[in-house]
Amino acid sequence: MRDFISDKIKNIKPSGIRKFFDIARTIPDCISLGVGEPDFDTPWHIAEEGIYAIESSKIFYTSNQGLLELREEISKWNKRKYNLSYSPDEIIVTTGGSEAIDITLRSIINPGDEIIILEPSYVSYEPIVILSGGIPKIIKLKNENSFKLTKEELQEAITPNTKALLINYPNNPTGAIMDENDLLKITDIIIKNDLLVISDEIYSELTYGKTHTSIGSLEGMRDRTITINGFSKSFSMTGWRLGYLMGPKVIVDEIKKIHQYAIMCAPTISQYAGIEALKKGDNDIENMKAEYNLRRNYLLNELKRLNIPCFVPEGAFYIFPDIHKFNKSSEDFATDLLKREHLVVVPGTAFGSSTDSFIRISYAYSLDSLKEAMKRLERYINSINS
Ligand SMILES: Cc1ncc(COP(=O)(O)O)c(C=O)c1O
Repeated sequence: MRDFISDKIKNIKPSGIRKFFDIARTIPDCISLGVGEPDFDTPWHIAEEGIYAIESSKIFYTSNQGLLELREEISKWNKRKYNLSYSPDEIIVTTGGSEAIDITLRSIINPGDEIIILEPSYVSYEPIVILSGGIPKIIKLKNENSFKLTKEELQEAITPNTKALLINYPNNPTGAIMDENDLLKITDIIIKNDLLVISDEIYSELTYGKTHTSIGSLEGMRDRTITINGFSKSFSMTGWRLGYLMGPKVIVDEIKKIHQYAIMCAPTISQYAGIEALKKGDNDIENMKAEYNLRRNYLLNELKRLNIPCFVPEGAFYIFPDIHKFNKSSEDFATDLLKREHLVVVPGTAFGSSTDSFIRISYAYSLDSLKEAMKRLERYINSINS
């Protein structure tokens, strides 16, 4: 038989995160700190709206762009929280933030366009840029800059072929944020070079101490920013597959074509639940955030006690310790830790080659699991130190 698979897809590597989960599944007493998925149940009043949608037969396709009532709530919520000004017709409700990333990149890339991606970064960006015919231009962020993008780094990466900058703050995997001052340092360069910004703000509600600033709310940025957000992380709704993108109508109308043909509409039942989340979910977010913050502080203290250097994350639910002193690649460290102590962490290389001396620990797990995990980590590092 012929080889039916395209060369483009053959050259894409499978996600470096999944491999570890597959091994972990075969080990009964394994503790995983690998997955970036909230461990809380979806708040019941939100889930109930989904159930009610089924009971009352609201189970048909919605308009391609999503229920108007949901888009109105998304518009109001983002105005209230981040001073973003996008009207309901400038919003597309998507099947998770994942779809929003995909259709935005596919809509803007011509062959050979360069898209700036910050490393370490979420695993989907680079493959989707490549599949869309674009060229990922990687900026390797530095631990000493707290994994923020500096204006010098940005300026240096721009060429005449640069079309867009893709950013993700609060960040997966580092937990870094860029506050208003940090963002204001790069907006001049973005505007001067006429770039589009794709801002994945899926963790916008999870910041500890500082409030999130949305780059699209800053002067001169609204019409050159596509903001991506969703319900998975803030409302613990990963399986509901609900997200959205917001941007100027001229761009959103084009992105909508792919969404129409590929997806039709985001899950209807989830859209009804999403309305409830935005209207009445503020307390749920605060409660979950308080719990994440406890876990974050616990892990920071533990890593300090174990003498493992770690930059202080101010957002998301990840911590990104520096393991270079153990003289092992992150892949070897994670594999060894899994085999010997039955503990899953993700090697830094899953998020880019420049972060081989880091591991990602997710604290979207109960404090009890984290406590047991830290015992195992301690035992492991004692065994390799001795
Ligand atoms: C940075 C980032 N963006 C987007 C997503 C996708 O989220 P979802 O498709 O569940 O909205 C994730 C999930 O882990 C993520 O970490």
